[in-house]
Amino acid sequence: MTEREQELIRLAKEEVEKNKEVVESAPYRLRYHLMPPVGLLNDPNGFIQWNGTYHLFYQWMPFKTGHGAKFWGHYSSKDLVNWKHEPIALAPSEWFEKNGCYSGSAIEHDGKMVLFYTGNVKDADGNRETYQCMAVSEDGVTFDKRGPVVELPEEYTAHFRDPKVWKKGADWYMVVGAQSKDLTGKVALLRSSDLQEWEHLGAIAGSSMNGLGEFGYMWECPDLFELGDVDVLIASPQGLEAEGMKYQNVYQAGYFSGKLDYETASFKHDDFVELDRGFEFYAPQTTLDEKGRRLMVGWMGVPEQDEDKHPTIAHMWIHALTLPRELKWIDGKLLQVPAEELALLRKEQLVEKSELLLSDDGVVLDIRESKAFEMSFSFEKGVSSFELELSDTVKLNFDASSRVFSLRRKSFVTEEWESRSCSLQVLTELQAYVDTSSIEVFLNGGEEVFTARIFPDGAVPEMVTVAGNGTIGELRVWELSG
Ligand code: FRU
Repeated sequence: MTEREQELIRLAKEEVEKNKEVVESAPYRLRYHLMPPVGLLNDPNGFIQWNGTYHLFYQWMPFKTGHGAKFWGHYSSKDLVNWKHEPIALAPSEWFEKNGCYSGSAIEHDGKMVLFYTGNVKDADGNRETYQCMAVSEDGVTFDKRGPVVELPEEYTAHFRDPKVWKKGADWYMVVGAQSKDLTGKVALLRSSDLQEWEHLGAIAGSSMNGLGEFGYMWECPDLFELGDVDVLIASPQGLEAEGMKYQNVYQAGYFSGKLDYETASFKHDDFVELDRGFEFYAPQTTLDEKGRRLMVGWMGVPEQDEDKHPTIAHMWIHALTLPRELKWIDGKLLQVPAEELALLRKEQLVEKSELLLSDDGVVLDIRESKAFEMSFSFEKGVSSFELELSDTVKLNFDASSRVFSLRRKSFVTEEWESRSCSLQVLTELQAYVDTSSIEVFLNGGEEVFTARIFPDGAVPEMVTVAGNGTIGELRVWELSG
């Protein structure tokens, strides 16, 4: 470890210690989500199950609640529920990463954990350089930096980052988020036989490619994997205009399903589908675990979307990661289901009801002032209308005649109600994970998901109310533990 690296790590640790009390006493501190110990967290990085243990890294700015020269923070877990905070994995100490160890991924090779990440470099005038770098670990805790392995291909501007690496056959492949020289968003594909020498095969998707029209000026955080009988490409494009219920956030995160031809480096794909319909979701990353599951975690935040207005800033921290979701490809649809291990979070069961008839007056459910709970509803025949009031800051509602499902929340900026919606043919299942200041809602076994931060003001609600027209088959609420 260089002296500079040691110094940066010392300063970051000092920052954690100095602010511990303020951060931990924060009323909106989450109970069962991963957060930064201080400062700002953004993208999940390096998600991998290695020697049986899950490792999840995150983009971290320890010194302020804004963006800057990022570190890689590190959590590990045996079960995706109980996480241990590990020592800092990467600090931006070297010339090729001096303005940040930006996002990247992890693989296993020869028994070692190998990280690929972007070394971000800026000069005094803000001109960028970008290096895709490698770091190797034998113990999964300390990382030996090997420096840049990929230089910028001439087709792109210096907005070229977030390498995601996987193996196919005898070769390694890497997708990188990019901006081509005409200032449009792309995903670049590279290949290597030894992880050291990488050949650029070309852009496989992007704005004005493969039948897609204009689609943004930069694509960040790509991920490519097989799911069922298709290849799925995830990307976070920047620069899309809102269109009806779609693309309502400042930046989007979604996927294309199709087939990647590894020989010709071409990807035929369908339309872009947003992965999450809520207010805060961006830069998700997946991994294939030892059980063969494709797991995904996202950032519960969006760059430049009122980040400076988050109420947690007063307590020196901002943002969190989403819960891990398992991805499935069923009948031509991507489904996202909460990882089954999340059942380990359940403590007391607070509500259990079956065959509950809904009415306009509503039914009150006593959740005993719980701030962290899971609700699960099933509706055998679907419902014609449904309204769930979770607190004074968040409501869910579905109307079968308009086929619209909405999540409404009180804005933490204006305190006005605002909504995110999607069209839904029928509502048969709803599962919601509520934490002190977040909500994740899964509809119809993961057909649609809504993620949002919520900042309830005033007293904790003792009750939630559910109203509508139709019958709830089964309803259960559990208190969840941190
Ligand atoms: C996405 C992103 C990445 C970059 C990282 C920097 O949120 O902008 O493209 O690597 O964050 O923290």
